[in-house]
Amino acid sequence: MSLRRILAALALATFGLALHGAAAAQAAIPDLGAVAAAPPASTLPAGWTQRGVFMEILVRAYQDSDGDGIGDLAGLTSRLDYLQALGITGIWLMPVFASEDHDHGYAVVNYRAIEPAYGTLADFDRFLAEAHQRGIAVIIDYVMNHAAAAHPLFESAYDSRQSPYVDWFIWSEEKPKGWNTFSGEPWREGNQRWYYAVFDAGMPDFNLRNPKVVDFHLDNLRFWLNRGVDGFRFDAVGVLFENSAAAWENQPENHELLKRVHALLAGYGEKYMVCESPGDPAPFASPDSCGSAFAFGLQKHIVASAQLGRLKDDVLYSLRKLPVPRMATFLANHDYFAGTRLARTFDGDEGGYRAAAATLLTLPGLPFLYYGEEIGLGLAAPVSNADQSLRGPMSWSAERNAGFTSADKPFRANVANWQTHNVAAEDRNPASLLNWYRALIALRKSEPALSVGSFTSLSERDQAVFAFTREHDGSTLLVLINYARKPATHALPAGFQPGEWQVVFPQGAKAAFTGTKPALAKLAAQQVLVLKKKPS
Ligand code: NOJ
Repeated sequence: MSLRRILAALALATFGLALHGAAAAQAAIPDLGAVAAAPPASTLPAGWTQRGVFMEILVRAYQDSDGDGIGDLAGLTSRLDYLQALGITGIWLMPVFASEDHDHGYAVVNYRAIEPAYGTLADFDRFLAEAHQRGIAVIIDYVMNHAAAAHPLFESAYDSRQSPYVDWFIWSEEKPKGWNTFSGEPWREGNQRWYYAVFDAGMPDFNLRNPKVVDFHLDNLRFWLNRGVDGFRFDAVGVLFENSAAAWENQPENHELLKRVHALLAGYGEKYMVCESPGDPAPFASPDSCGSAFAFGLQKHIVASAQLGRLKDDVLYSLRKLPVPRMATFLANHDYFAGTRLARTFDGDEGGYRAAAATLLTLPGLPFLYYGEEIGLGLAAPVSNADQSLRGPMSWSAERNAGFTSADKPFRANVANWQTHNVAAEDRNPASLLNWYRALIALRKSEPALSVGSFTSLSERDQAVFAFTREHDGSTLLVLINYARKPATHALPAGFQPGEWQVVFPQGAKAAFTGTKPALAKLAAQQVLVLKKKPS
């Protein structure tokens, strides 16, 4: 098998991409025109970037409105009432631009067009307006690092050394030696040259040292900001620039570019940008960089604590070391490397699932749920690709195709547990996981200390109970989460007076204490309690 064929097979297996071929028909270069800033008015409440709860959504998998088996923007719009009732205040849309992969969308072929299967720009505008009417912000995924190999800009550069777009990508006449990035060899052979594509042969990296490329991206960002989007999730920010085979990740230039983008967004009022750098997120959360980043690492430690039945030291370590208040926290997302669906992790252990969710929704940071997490959505029925198994159709009901589509078949098989774990069934059951999430989100929204308050741990490593306080503006909350599958007690600080506290979550629950010096909180197996100090 030739190298080219091996790469093509890999590209297909990993991203569902066809490798670029010189023989492919070339599409017209899409709109590259300059876009001037024209900030629209925002109706979102001041401070929205620091409070509330986001939902990450794959449009393809959320709701089909036209019976083609593929989720679309009109379908998502029809589910906004559900999201609002859940308490969601922000949506992160995984890529909605026209893509080559027609699946997760990170191989973009047109940065100013909507993926045809999702609808039109008018559908996007309608969705945005309806979300805003419900007080829900919308941020969209944006990929600055790479395009699709089928992007007409790359096709032009690939096909001719005379193309005006050659310098938009990264080329070498000889194969550079000594490179080994996370996907192995990042230099791909193409039309008697080598091009750099850190993820995959089907996703060539842009040359971000070319000012025209940066201008192109900044114009695209203004294009979407002018339409009213509230911010962006920036993909793969750790690999924007490379300086050598030994320095291809987290380079200073990455932060400089993100700072420019940050300044652009600041010109639009209160906007939010959050960056994805799984390897080293903290530097990207700096105001001199992206300003916020996903708290990779913390999610695995929270989940592991709930699984093990004791607080992992890594949770405390992450909370000390990461600038969590400026970060986006989460338990799972669309990438397998971040973990699997919680329904798989906590299969048969809903108590553990609930404890993990309660941890996420009471800690500092801006929490992001992954669509379906709130109902325990399972893995898509066997698919060869682990990532795709995380991206199954949302389960709305126990009716045909889980209420996702009226087509004969959804684009991907229903998740394994759709008949039991669907919105309709859980909505009716006050004790369901869905209602657990609803109540936790409502708590977070009603108690600002949980979003923006200080954090003080009252636990040490390996204890069964994670106890901590959150304080803001004279209001103090005490969170107690017993990860163990058996009852546990937890010593509270000297001077703790049970009578001074009232239970605020779950509604109607009672707190039990024993002893006085120190007072011990008594918790049932996997119990979660949140108390609030009564005003003195
Ligand atoms: C990170 C995204 O989360 C992942 O899904 C994608 O495949 C890569 N970046 C490449 O865009």
